[in-house]
Amino acid sequence: MPEQPASVREVADGLREVGYLAGESTALVSFLATKLGKPVLVEGPAGVGKTELAKALAKLLRRTLIRLQCYEGLDEAKALYEWNYRKQLLRIQTESGDAGWEDVQEDIFGEEFLLRRPLLSAIASPEPVVLLIDEIDKTDQEFEAMLLELLSDFQISIPELGRIEARTHPIVLLTSNNTRELTEALKRRCLYLWLDYPDLEHELEIVRLHSPSLPQEIARKLVEIVHAVRELDLKKPPSIAESIDWARALLLLGAEDIDGETFRQTMSVIVKHRTDLDTVAARVGMRLERPEEAGARGAA
Ligand SMILES: Nc1ncnc2c1ncn2[C@@H]1O[C@H](COP(=O)(O)OP(=O)(O)OP(=O)(O)O)[C@@H](O)[C@H]1O
Ligand SMILES: [Mg+2]
Repeated sequence: MPEQPASVREVADGLREVGYLAGESTALVSFLATKLGKPVLVEGPAGVGKTELAKALAKLLRRTLIRLQCYEGLDEAKALYEWNYRKQLLRIQTESGDAGWEDVQEDIFGEEFLLRRPLLSAIASPEPVVLLIDEIDKTDQEFEAMLLELLSDFQISIPELGRIEARTHPIVLLTSNNTRELTEALKRRCLYLWLDYPDLEHELEIVRLHSPSLPQEIARKLVEIVHAVRELDLKKPPSIAESIDWARALLLLGAEDIDGETFRQTMSVIVKHRTDLDTVAARVGMRLERPEEAGARGAA
């Protein structure tokens, strides 16, 4: 696989080789990202393969993946850089008494005293990397504003040191679960990819990829059930991650079919809220049982 894919097709095939089954728009946007050098904002519900896409792209392009996990209160010191105060202090202490402040200052604000956090590492890396800024919606707007300089100019300003420009151009993926609306300014600088739950055949393929030894009929039934469950009005519909887990669980348990009994025993692998469990048991679980049994249970 060449490190600079020449077509959308090549990206799709390459991602497949590293274990990621991309839909049409995913392959297209990924290809454009490698060509245009623009960051990609990937949005969608939990567990649909947003983070995994960045990992797969890094593998495909044979680049190091640098990951910044966002959280509430994340600041520049954790995301960009921090001065290594201990080292600076040691330096000052070892300085001979007659060195002037000017000399020392020049010294202790050099790159040597800088602690690189993910964003700076990505920019300063001599080899091009894939930069994953994961769950950007968890940070506040100030942080987003700070990112803008980085995403549009690929440079970082450090007051004491000046501007650090990217030596190589990283491929940047930002992911968001949509817990808050991102700013227009950020969106404008990015290519946009909406990742949704896949269609039945696509998801079946993903499940088969992760659990190749699960018999085809069970895998199909599993995906059909998951799709039916997603139709219900749940707090948290099952994602691809849950389908994959369920397939693994069924394999481990040696299930030969997903009947009512098996479903009741294992449905907590795909549904994780008390109220959702009740809804799913009533609406889907019953259907899997034999009708007369379902009727009896319903009457009880
Ligand atoms: N297209 C795909 N091909 C192969 N595996 C996939 C695909 N999509 C998702 N998966 C698998 O689904 C699981 C969940 O994916 P991932 O962690 O990337 O979800 P996410 O969208 O980042 O979720 P969250 O928003 O909760 O962080 C992973 O184990 C991943 O391998
Ligand atoms: Mg994720």
